[in-house]
Amino acid sequence: MDAQEWKEVFSFICSVEFWRMGVLWTLSLIYSYFQLFRQTLFSAKSKSKPYSPRCSPSSIATRRPICIVTGATSGLGAAAACALSREGYYVVLVGRSLDLLSKIASDIKEQSGDACVKAFQVDLSSFKSIWNFKREFQQWLSDMNMHCSVQLLINNAGILATRSRVTTEGCDKIMATNYVGAFCLTKILLPLLQNSPIPSRVVNVTSFTHRSVSSMKINKETISGKCFSGSRIYPFAHVYEYSKLCLLLFSYELHRQVKLVEQSSQVSVIAVDPGTVKTNIMREFPKCISQLAFFTLRLLGLLQSSEEGVCSILDAALAPPEISGVYFFGGNGRTLKSSPLSYNSKLAKDLWEASSDLFIELQLASGHTT
Ligand SMILES: NC(=O)c1ccc[n+]([C@@H]2O[C@H](COP(=O)([O-])OP(=O)(O)OC[C@H]3O[C@@H](n4cnc5c(N)ncnc54)[C@H](OP(=O)(O)O)[C@@H]3O)[C@@H](O)[C@H]2O)c1
Repeated sequence: MDAQEWKEVFSFICSVEFWRMGVLWTLSLIYSYFQLFRQTLFSAKSKSKPYSPRCSPSSIATRRPICIVTGATSGLGAAAACALSREGYYVVLVGRSLDLLSKIASDIKEQSGDACVKAFQVDLSSFKSIWNFKREFQQWLSDMNMHCSVQLLINNAGILATRSRVTTEGCDKIMATNYVGAFCLTKILLPLLQNSPIPSRVVNVTSFTHRSVSSMKINKETISGKCFSGSRIYPFAHVYEYSKLCLLLFSYELHRQVKLVEQSSQVSVIAVDPGTVKTNIMREFPKCISQLAFFTLRLLGLLQSSEEGVCSILDAALAPPEISGVYFFGGNGRTLKSSPLSYNSKLAKDLWEASSDLFIELQLASGHTT
């Protein structure tokens, strides 16, 4: 390492964000496992089963169901796309890099000759790009003579940027990718999920870090992240936690909304937390810091590979259709209670309203109104 790199590492270690992640995130993770342990102990005594068995799509569909995976070019998204293809899904890969998308697509095809996979280049931090994806996707369905519906949407794309960046549409990059993009994509694809002849599902990939948020303000400034990117020191760890709590609140609210409109709604919504997984999520950290984090987590027995970490995502994706509005954690089909704040239905409603307003604003600004 040269002097510049040492300086970078030193200032990273001296930052509030480093200690926030080191202390609060570790405590949040340990608390989640402790809760899981208590739950397992309690259920062993009461002999109740706190887990959902997996349900293969081939048992309910007569043709290949369609599954859209965002952030499919790396880590958990790539692992989920491979695994869901093995489960019999027609996998639609969504990612930013065409090269990486082609690589994952050919990996999936290599794995099984009859795998069905299609890739779309989409930047989830851009409303315009998401809207174009919807148009291209519908065109593709029509060209392929396929039913105009989606059976599974996995909102997995996420970033942990260490520097403040503002998107062309004026949002903070972390909020735009981790929350606003997922909200807009789901809202745009909801008619296709509702049009499915078999039960369909939205799976939102959130994180235990949401537990570190003790109070939250919801308005357009916070959810677009404008108030964070404007601050003198960019609170990236807090923005990440906040984005994951928003995704969780959104999951529970969407679950309530779809059930409210139609009691026997075919669309279910599940939030999932993979725990700590060795992926590229810390790509913007100084290399020695991410290696130290992985080393410590491995020492504590808390680090999983992508193939292990993807189990919770598969549990959520393949849970029976009646399972909805829950939070999967820890693999083996187990669910957990998320933080008390995430169950605040008033906050969830405020978030829904503010996100819908932002959606309309982004839609008007992009010139796409139909
Ligand atoms: N790893 C963990 O320990 C952990 C724990 C809890 C939750 N999670 C969550 O799991 C999800 C997957 O993360 P990961 O750990 O697999 O990290 P990763 O290896 O960095 O993968 C993130 C994926 O998201 C994509 N992405 C980022 N920004 C995007 C954008 N604007 N548009 C489209 N795609 C974009 C990336 O694409 P590029 O390759 O183009 O950048 C990449 O494919 C994230 O939501 C993360 O927050 C991870």
